[in-house]
Amino acid sequence: MRTQVGIVGAGPAGLMLSHLLHLEGIESVVLEARSRKYVEERVRAGVLEQGTVDLMIDTGIGDRLQREGLLHHGIELSFLGRRRRVDLTELTGGKSITIYAQHEVIRDLIRARVAAGGQIIFEADQATVHDVNSASPRIRFRSPEGQACELKCDFIAGCDGWHGVCRSSIPEGALACYERTYPFAWLGILAQAAPATEELIYTYHPRGFALFSMRSPEVTRLYLQCAPEEDLANWPDDRIWEELRTRMTCADGWAPNEGEILQKGITDMRGFVVEPMQHGRLFLAGDAAHIVPPTGAKGLNLAIADVHVLARALAAFIKQGRRELLDRYSEICLRRAWKVQRFSWWMTSMLHCFPDDSGFDRRRQLAELDYVTTSRAALTSLAENYVGLPME
Ligand code: FAD
Ligand code: PHB
Repeated sequence: MRTQVGIVGAGPAGLMLSHLLHLEGIESVVLEARSRKYVEERVRAGVLEQGTVDLMIDTGIGDRLQREGLLHHGIELSFLGRRRRVDLTELTGGKSITIYAQHEVIRDLIRARVAAGGQIIFEADQATVHDVNSASPRIRFRSPEGQACELKCDFIAGCDGWHGVCRSSIPEGALACYERTYPFAWLGILAQAAPATEELIYTYHPRGFALFSMRSPEVTRLYLQCAPEEDLANWPDDRIWEELRTRMTCADGWAPNEGEILQKGITDMRGFVVEPMQHGRLFLAGDAAHIVPPTGAKGLNLAIADVHVLARALAAFIKQGRRELLDRYSEICLRRAWKVQRFSWWMTSMLHCFPDDSGFDRRRQLAELDYVTTSRAALTSLAENYVGLPME
């Protein structure tokens, strides 16, 4: 088998890259370890930045997003029982965010790739990458039927997420890894309950952070700060609702609506960046290259920003022989990724309880929340990061 760009991973990064390359007239094959059903149902992110939405619409995959996505013009920060609104649209000169589940983005991308005759091989097992320092790198894998296969490519895109094989195939000395683990995790639920208010609420509470989000007019998404490596067995539904009520109920009586819990999961909190994001003809994109804690709602959007650069860089090289952008891929993406890492760290630090926090730290956090929600300069900074820094 041969293709121009071999892509490992059918997450947002891999599928969007394949879609953008197709629009440039460049062929790719996507290899995905899981089944189509699994990736189309995996519950993950939900907030799309303005730039991600614009890219989906501009490249012809935004119809359902425009029909079903929930356009949000603000978010709220809640502390000491009171909510304060951040008017994203007014503060950014008209930008907004859209609530549209990551697996819906995945469905739209898969549908578009399949309709255009694109090749996605699901249940491709044991993928390994080879000869990335040569002009013809290869990916070996086992087909769903168990047959040994080889995909010869001109370039390989490692879009295989945090647990993927591409990053770990790069010799250790060739990469620098920067990591921060946070001393807590998030317990997330999807509940069959109408969202009790229209915008997301980020809550600081002495018992820990809580987040009110949503997926549709019928489904609420909620998160609670919990211990790292928390066992879900310790969290029967009643305990989850009681903890959510304790942390989120406001002085005016507002609390999330409750309903059947449809799904529960624990998410680790970590910041991680690998430098550079390239080794020979292997280019890393998305979670394979960097992870951010979810407090800024950035991971998916960062993955899309990477492949936006990568698709243009590959097109300039393949179609015009111009390699300047390809050589600068890592530098361009890392510059933005570190700013996003900073914002995600800042939101996380401001809103969570750390185990070694003193009374001093808690008062400083409250002062920060008070400042951020009353200073126009600070609000503008939060808003411009939240709706998304410009894509290069
Ligand atoms: P992934 O989505 O991880 O895709 C990688 C793909 O590669 C997967 O399909 C995997 O099965 C496949 N794969 C792995 N190994 C192999 C292999 N060896 N061979 C073949 N295929 C392989 N981000 C936001 O922007 N906004 C949010 O609101 C947000 N909320 C989140 C909430 C939660 C609970 C979680 C867990 C994450 C959240 N994120 C959010 C982060 C976001 O989901 C990720 O950053 C995003 O999925 C990254 O996309 P990706 O394509 O780089 O990687
Ligand atoms: C979500 O809806 O899943 C979500 C929203 C905001 C975040 C993280 C996750 O910061």
